[in-house]
Amino acid sequence: MKVVHTIQEVREWRKECKGSTGFVPTMGCLHAGHGSLIKQSRLDNDYTAVSIFVNPSQFAPTEDLDQYPRTLPADIDLLEQLGVDLLFAPNANEMYPQGIPLNVEDQRGPFVTVLGVSEMLEGSTRPNFFRGVATVVAKLLNIVTPTVAYFGQKDIQQFIVLDTMVRQLFINTRLQMMPIQRDSQGLALSSRNKYLCQESLTIASNLYKGLQRGCQMIQDSPNVISANDVKNVISEMWFPHLAQGDFKIDYLSIAHLQTLTELSKIEAKRDHKIVISCAVYVKDRKQPTVTVRLIDNIIL
Ligand code: PAJ
Repeated sequence: MKVVHTIQEVREWRKECKGSTGFVPTMGCLHAGHGSLIKQSRLDNDYTAVSIFVNPSQFAPTEDLDQYPRTLPADIDLLEQLGVDLLFAPNANEMYPQGIPLNVEDQRGPFVTVLGVSEMLEGSTRPNFFRGVATVVAKLLNIVTPTVAYFGQKDIQQFIVLDTMVRQLFINTRLQMMPIQRDSQGLALSSRNKYLCQESLTIASNLYKGLQRGCQMIQDSPNVISANDVKNVISEMWFPHLAQGDFKIDYLSIAHLQTLTELSKIEAKRDHKIVISCAVYVKDRKQPTVTVRLIDNIIL
């Protein structure tokens, strides 16, 4: 695997590629979720490039930019094992020559804003988060010019924002969404799971169990049902952990998959898909000062 740090080196590598190129952008601290995207890219393409860049412009001042886990040597080992051709690991000056936006409030641009699908859910708690994500991914796609780029369903709104960006800015890359990889208890893999002790990871796996129960309720219902009734059933499943302070719900949403507009009624016979999604603060049982915000979703 070639490891490069500059845009020019990526462009030189890309010029030599004779065939399709798959690309997996990441922030590192790689796990089997990232691995599944990379494996798919290897199956579909002649070449696979991965980027590792902890993007400052998508972190709010209150978030974990400095603490975000950085595990480059282990990441490189994993990428070698997976047969990746190129790793692009730039520093922030390389990606933001006009000045590194220190956080999402920083106005040093240019920035890409995808209005319409960025404001709700993740965007309502993390204003300008998607501005940072869309901007860095637009830059990365312009640098790598891949045939296909792979993203996880785990960050479903991120996929919708980026897919909208790529289509509306005529970026010549197809985006592919890949299923959520989970641990044996059902917890969605995330770099942030590292912050939680074993007991809290087990507790956190109830997030998915709640979403599954909501999903079952919708599938079992022959008639129209109220989204609030489904949300109540999900929160009931989480109730012991809400009551004990392990969980604090940021949002629980049932929305139209394409537009992310919130639904109040769910039709049994629908001509569109829906997504049940949540963001929940999970307090660590061993270190109660540590709280991790986890997201998960199910499409049906
Ligand atoms: P990061 O959190 O490192 O995730 C990189 C990619 O891996 C994303 O597409 C994400 O959805 C996917 N992923 C993470 N956990 C997954 C899981 N359990 N199963 C399947 N896929 C999973 O998302 C980002 O980085 C950044 O916002 C980025 C797009 C790189 C822009 O900075």
